[in-house]
Amino acid sequence: MNLYEALYLRKSTRKYVWEPVQADLLAKIGTFYEEVPSLFPGIKTEIGITDNTDRKHAPGGFFGVAAPYYLSLYSEKKDKYEMNAGFICEQLALYMHTLGLGSCFLGSAKVPKKNRNRGELEFVIMMAFGKPEGTLARRSTDAKRLPMQKLCVGPEEPKRVVRELLEAARLAPSAMNTQPWRFVVAQGRIHFFARKQSIELLSHWDELGFGILFAHVMIAADELWLDVDLIRLEDISQKEFKNTQYVLSAVIRGEQAS
Ligand SMILES: Cc1cc2nc3c(=O)[nH]c(=O)nc-3n(C[C@H](O)[C@H](O)[C@H](O)COP(=O)(O)O)c2cc1C
Repeated sequence: MNLYEALYLRKSTRKYVWEPVQADLLAKIGTFYEEVPSLFPGIKTEIGITDNTDRKHAPGGFFGVAAPYYLSLYSEKKDKYEMNAGFICEQLALYMHTLGLGSCFLGSAKVPKKNRNRGELEFVIMMAFGKPEGTLARRSTDAKRLPMQKLCVGPEEPKRVVRELLEAARLAPSAMNTQPWRFVVAQGRIHFFARKQSIELLSHWDELGFGILFAHVMIAADELWLDVDLIRLEDISQKEFKNTQYVLSAVIRGEQAS
């Protein structure tokens, strides 16, 4: 199974078998992280894995999940670092799925002050993971997501490859399943918008969520052998769409979109 197949099957796992994960699988996660593409390669990140098989190291937090392992991502605090963190973590979550491991993002985790920094890097997000109790996968049709008609508007009927990128984006998980995104397709390009916040900037979780969404788009692009750039287009950023805020566009290079 590859990451593309995993994004159709993964669900959040909140119940785990209380067993150690084999050392070679833990090592594979570390190796995968070392090689995983980031959205903004100029932002330094690190991961740390906490072994909680003794049940003594779970973070606090209202929507906490008791799990045998936790993966924490730390990052330099640069522009769009949360988006970058979401992009990396979703690939890790999908990779874990391919190894037979369940995972769950933990935005609500309360991390003690002493663990909030790693040198110059700051804690950004944590994921619970381990062997799932019960099923690891679900059918994508069972994922609770908004229908495409609610998420996507545009002057044209998207072509097949664009539809596949959109479907991968639609399946992206988000904090409290808010799905804060909307898609506009025009001239074979997908423009991604966030539902407008009361403040100018995206909220912490929305920005991270967009990183997850873009991971799905780029994994699908890779699978379809499409050369896709995620860029901010100035002519779109000038446009005002009701109650939304422009984030980025997926531009397919070459002839594939036509
Ligand atoms: C940034 C982020 C933070 C999340 N935080 C939590 C959390 O604190 N506790 C929890 O149980 N689930 C958390 N989730 C999981 C979401 O609730 C879940 O992804 C969403 O409801 C969709 O369900 P699915 O992942 O099973 O498709 C989080 C997800 C994301 C993307």
